[in-house]
Amino acid sequence: MDVKDDNDNRGQTAWWRVGLGLGVVTGLHFLRRWWARRRLPPLFKARDRAGVALITGASSGIGAEYARQLARAGYDLILVARRRERLESLAEALRAEHGVMVEVLPADLSLPEEVARVAARLAGLPALDFLINNAGFGRSGDFAGSDIEGQLAMAHVHVDATLRLTRAALPRMLERGRGAVVNVASVMAFYPLPGSATYVATKSALVGFTRSLHTELQGTGVRVQALCPGFTRTEFHDAADMAIRQAPGFAWLSPEKVVAHSLRDLAADAAVSVPGMGYAALVGVAGLLPQAVFDGVGAAYTALRRAEPMRVWTQR
Ligand SMILES: NC(=O)c1ccc[n+]([C@@H]2O[C@H](COP(=O)([O-])OP(=O)(O)OC[C@H]3O[C@@H](n4cnc5c(N)ncnc54)[C@H](OP(=O)(O)O)[C@@H]3O)[C@@H](O)[C@H]2O)c1
Repeated sequence: MDVKDDNDNRGQTAWWRVGLGLGVVTGLHFLRRWWARRRLPPLFKARDRAGVALITGASSGIGAEYARQLARAGYDLILVARRRERLESLAEALRAEHGVMVEVLPADLSLPEEVARVAARLAGLPALDFLINNAGFGRSGDFAGSDIEGQLAMAHVHVDATLRLTRAALPRMLERGRGAVVNVASVMAFYPLPGSATYVATKSALVGFTRSLHTELQGTGVRVQALCPGFTRTEFHDAADMAIRQAPGFAWLSPEKVVAHSLRDLAADAAVSVPGMGYAALVGVAGLLPQAVFDGVGAAYTALRRAEPMRVWTQR
């Protein structure tokens, strides 16, 4: 065997070792997650009296489903959104079905004074167990021609409200050594999407914020999670664009599965929760892809959008 063959063999062995090492680390990571998910976190143990959960965007979709699953687990609720009648009818149903206390707190979270009102309510709660920052909406269209007030309203609802409410909730949670904050982001936080620049930017901000906060809160008993769903059947897509209408059936998740996944991942104390194997794989590879791939897919998607102009996702 000559020197070149010897070097080639050594190179191949090194790659095998790296691959095997990565495989073992990944396997151990999933094993740990699987094991942690089998145990209920202290938050959910029967001996602990369930406290209060405040959920934003509870008038429909994922937020309403958090309300149903947490009421079933015995938590009292405070429901926040703009549509008071929707909140009232959900509250009535949950009181009757689960015997929990449900307060309705209508608020428009794009307005600083209304966010401040919700934050004051949060800060005064003696037994806050959950803050679910879920309120949100999408708008589609090129940023250059957009209504800037609408884009800023999205930033206020997704980012400003989340920061203010989380800041209001944490001191009491830390004092009690228990509690959980879920910030509902999106798989789109990991991919550039033409026509949704502000949506992607605000959801990415939520993921970065949550991951950093997660490290700050280690060992305190307080958990924080960025939930990153893919396509989920809710009212979000009522005025969906062409590409979304054509998404195949298998791509869609139910709010029930999304919320159950989020609550299980809180048990594992995962900083980022991605329901659905396919979406988890998409998020997993996002950081490995070169920019050229995003540019190519983005160009194809833009061409599609121009061929059939999108309807605008409206803010109610
Ligand atoms: N569905 C999906 O495919 C998907 C995928 C990834 C991420 N997400 C995220 O999941 C979250 C929940 O959305 P969803 O899918 O459940 O859609 P949805 O059914 O349209 O629910 C959105 C909720 O947000 C509330 N909301 C919107 N603007 C608000 C404002 N200015 N102030 C207060 N509340 C406001 C709405 O209530 P009112 O209209 O009554 O105010 C509603 O309760 C959003 O953050 C969304 O970005 C959804």
